Amino acid sequence: MKNITRENLTDTVKSSFSQIDGERQRHLVNRLVHHLHAFASETGLSHDEWREGIAFLHRMAEISSPSRSEFTLLSDVLGLSSLVDLLAARPGATEGSVLGPFHTRGSPWVDNGSNLIKDNPGEAVLIRGRVSDTEGQALPKATIDFWQNADNGMYWQMDDSQPQDNLRCQIQVQADGSFELATIRPRPYLVPTDGPVGELLRLSHRDAWRPAHYHIIVEAPGHRSLITEVFDAADPWLDKDAVFGVRASLVCDFQPASDAATAARLGLPAQYLAVELPIRLARED
Ligand SMILES: [Fe+2]
Repeated sequence: MKNITRENLTDTVKSSFSQIDGERQRHLVNRLVHHLHAFASETGLSHDEWREGIAFLHRMAEISSPSRSEFTLLSDVLGLSSLVDLLAARPGATEGSVLGPFHTRGSPWVDNGSNLIKDNPGEAVLIRGRVSDTEGQALPKATIDFWQNADNGMYWQMDDSQPQDNLRCQIQVQADGSFELATIRPRPYLVPTDGPVGELLRLSHRDAWRPAHYHIIVEAPGHRSLITEVFDAADPWLDKDAVFGVRASLVCDFQPASDAATAARLGLPAQYLAVELPIRLARED
């Protein structure tokens, strides 16, 4: 019989997981137990507080579905998602930022230079970018997965008034790594607050706004995939992003532009906004 005491409990629990085969998994579970126990000990967690925490997790599970992950949102508002992004950073590469809950695989492939605006209201924007490695060498096999919200602040999945796949696409870059896309200016929006994460935000008197941004995933053979966002420098919520995704290097000026040939080629109005996106990918480790 092992007499479980306050002194030996944590080590006993850790040993109970010592037979996990994978070294990394074993380490992660060991450290999870260590820090969970340290949290309870440090705070003197009471039965009522423990029950409240478990009930919170139950409500998280109840509101989650294949199209809504309250757990991802919790990770986002706790800054955990952002920390994982920052830990994955590599010198010289474009910084990463949160994936968010509105990415779905299988966006339609469009030609470089396509116009996504169609019937969308909003300010017209030309996005121009170039994908290279950290030394500036073009990555001609790179692909871009792009998505954003509409002028009403909503993503197509959440809004019956928008056509399927509105304002999202995949593009293959040109031989010199460049790409162009005509779209609209993104809008700030509120993260969902009708679930337990909303309770937490209200409890903390925190805002639920995200500053306006584009989402992109950039992939190229032999290089680390980049999941990131591009923020509008004019957005009033840059200092208060509910999910801590803003990095200074990802904030871009939307510059007024009026090049007639470019406007004609991409089907833009005579006056539009232009954003430049230099993207650098690190080699795979
Ligand atoms: Fe977003």
